[in-house]
Amino acid sequence: MMAPAAAELGVGLRVLVEDPESSAAQVVTDAPVGVASDDAAIRSLIAPGDGRAPAAVLTFEHEHVPNALLQDLIDHGTPVRPGPDALVQAQDKIVMRRRLAELGLPCPRWAALPTDPAAARDALAAFLADEAGHEAVVKTSRGGYDGKGVRVVSSPDDVADWLEAAADGAPALLVERKVPFVRELAALVARRPSGEVRTWPVVESVQRDGVCAEVVAPAPDLDPAVEAEARRIAVAVAEGLDVTGVLAVELFETREADGTAAVWVNELAMRPHNSGHWTIDGAVTSQFEQHLRAVLDLPLGDTAARAPWTVMANVLGSSLGSLTDALPELLARFPEARVNLYGKGIRPGRKLGHVNVSGTDLGEVRRRAVAAAALLRGEATESTESTESTESQEHA
Ligand SMILES: Nc1ncnc2c1ncn2[C@@H]1O[C@H](COP(=O)(O)OP(=O)(O)O)[C@@H](O)[C@H]1O
Ligand SMILES: [Mg+2]
Repeated sequence: MMAPAAAELGVGLRVLVEDPESSAAQVVTDAPVGVASDDAAIRSLIAPGDGRAPAAVLTFEHEHVPNALLQDLIDHGTPVRPGPDALVQAQDKIVMRRRLAELGLPCPRWAALPTDPAAARDALAAFLADEAGHEAVVKTSRGGYDGKGVRVVSSPDDVADWLEAAADGAPALLVERKVPFVRELAALVARRPSGEVRTWPVVESVQRDGVCAEVVAPAPDLDPAVEAEARRIAVAVAEGLDVTGVLAVELFETREADGTAAVWVNELAMRPHNSGHWTIDGAVTSQFEQHLRAVLDLPLGDTAARAPWTVMANVLGSSLGSLTDALPELLARFPEARVNLYGKGIRPGRKLGHVNVSGTDLGEVRRRAVAAAALLRGEATESTESTESTESQEHA
């Protein structure tokens, strides 16, 4: 998704891909194959040694990169953005919670669990005893994504397998208060090495089974004070952790009995993020273009929304042989839809693409984005939505 933005700005992208069939390799012509944990692969990505100029900057689309190597690259003159000191906060949820607490940012009550299983059981039991409902959320500190390292527990027995694994060298565990949130929000910010920061409108992210299903931009009925607080937190994280490039801050919104709302930091992603895919079509500057601008230390673009509402619907798994089979019907029924397919192999629940729809009527925009994504999943949807709204706009 960064390739079109790079082409427009005349930025050459050289991408290290794990598989020549991968999404990035389908659209970036300069895509050597290798793994991100391989020192030699990363070194030759930066300096191919075939007469071509070395890369001006190294950046990432995921957080699983070796920090010692990154520090060595920096020591030898290659800018790495974001830098390893920032990146570790997005790689390790224990490191992140500690640092956010130091910065005074609002986090749910949490504790790191000891490595020893018996001690971990005691610590977890004590944590649960202090929680209303005696429930909490246990997470693996590293390597989790799409809810795979997250479990709601009411007893240490519920994570007996994880406690044993952690003692055997698997990533350490932490426990958090189960936040009684009314919804999940995300705040997206970009920051340049020279200090300029820009935030996008704060969005609502709708999660199903730990996976983002939809994003509504901006978050409907968001109290302006909460929106300002969410943006303030995003900037404070970016500045406090010296993040360069795009940073997504996942947030929980809670509401007290008296109606006052508050936000709490869930986790961080230091890269363009699913909660920002709406910006590709719905904002003046997309998160992908902004990430390139930021890591190249170029002036940042306008983050304003292009329409009152944009809804992004993820395509999670599909029963079709190929997603493109759905295009004739989808494009005919939803001419305003912006379809983005990732060229990935189909697997149950996998993020295979997304659809953005923008407009003035939130209910209609959301219904149409979700229905278009459902067609790509191979679900038959009622054709009641027709193209009425588009026609009436054309007549207007
Ligand atoms: N402390 C918590 N309280 C309530 N729900 C949580 C908590 N932590 C995570 N969740 C739920 O689990 C989802 C995934 O957790 P997250 O830490 O973001 O893991 P991942 O790295 O898989 O995205 C969140 O989006 C949220 O729906
Ligand atoms: Mg998350």
